[in-house]
Amino acid sequence: MYCHSRENGNPEIKALDPRLRGDDKRIANMSKIKSSAPGKLMLFGEHAVIYDYPCIVTTVESRIYVEVEKAKEFKIDAPQVKDTIFVEEAVKNFCEKYKVDNKILIKTYSDFSSEFGFGSSSAVTVATIRALSKLYKVNISKKEIFDLGYKVVLNIQGVGSGFDIASATFGGTLYFVTAGKIIETLSVEYVPLVIGYSGTKASTTKIVKNLKPNFKIFNDIKQIVEEAKISLVNSDWKRTGELMNKNHQLLQKLGVSTQMLDKMCETAITSGAFGAKLSGAGGGDCMIALVSSDKIKSVESAIVNVGGNIINVNNNSQGVKLEKI
Ligand code: PMV
Repeated sequence: MYCHSRENGNPEIKALDPRLRGDDKRIANMSKIKSSAPGKLMLFGEHAVIYDYPCIVTTVESRIYVEVEKAKEFKIDAPQVKDTIFVEEAVKNFCEKYKVDNKILIKTYSDFSSEFGFGSSSAVTVATIRALSKLYKVNISKKEIFDLGYKVVLNIQGVGSGFDIASATFGGTLYFVTAGKIIETLSVEYVPLVIGYSGTKASTTKIVKNLKPNFKIFNDIKQIVEEAKISLVNSDWKRTGELMNKNHQLLQKLGVSTQMLDKMCETAITSGAFGAKLSGAGGGDCMIALVSSDKIKSVESAIVNVGGNIINVNNNSQGVKLEKI
């Protein structure tokens, strides 16, 4: 378990954060290295987390894969990654920090479309750093992967809390504060979610940059996040659902929801979900509904009936790891 906390203003590692001592000896001497990192879903606290507030994020079982091997020159083959800038920036930052050359061939592929807002850019960044650390035999901790990955994201986007980089790195379900001031693994086994895609893709960076901060709303969101941290760990789905509804209403007040997302959330609730909210920056992408197993079918068809698409994927999966070739 990884559990970092900030006490007296200093980041402190409370529990074990082991070095990645060759996750797998079979992989140790191979010239080609493969790694993977999961996508993510924001459960609570989006937008407020940009401004030093906490959020809760979980991983999805869909992953991005990265293969690296030594080559004569730097080359990327990344047909499924929406743009290769994150791979390039990750390689550049890794090579500068650890003083190694960039003569590598790097290939990436993905279980999921970058359309869904599952965080393909952060997953590919984290997987690239992990694969390079193995290729160049650099002893790197998960916190070091997070720090380097977050730097890559800020270099490219200029904004971002880093929650997606933390999720791809540590996996599971995390309580996270801006820039990794706190990264705490929550002991949650699985969150029974139905995920609906609204059919449109929005630019997170644009939405974040255009949002006028409202600290009254951010404080209300913080209260919800703190309560959800407890209700999720207790698998108290009724309370968690109520908190999702409240969080969605605050996101509506911030002006980041859309008619389609609102419709999908409303119909999920009237069809028996414990609660529903948009997930991520808003403006499109996905909503999530918390649903007991006997209501899944009716909630899914209600979402489809208003024009949404269901994405079937489990959550709370493992963070970055090495893969067998
Ligand atoms: O759009 P997504 O799923 O990448 O989520 C963005 C969440 C924000 O809080 C709006 C931005 C961030 O970096 O935390």
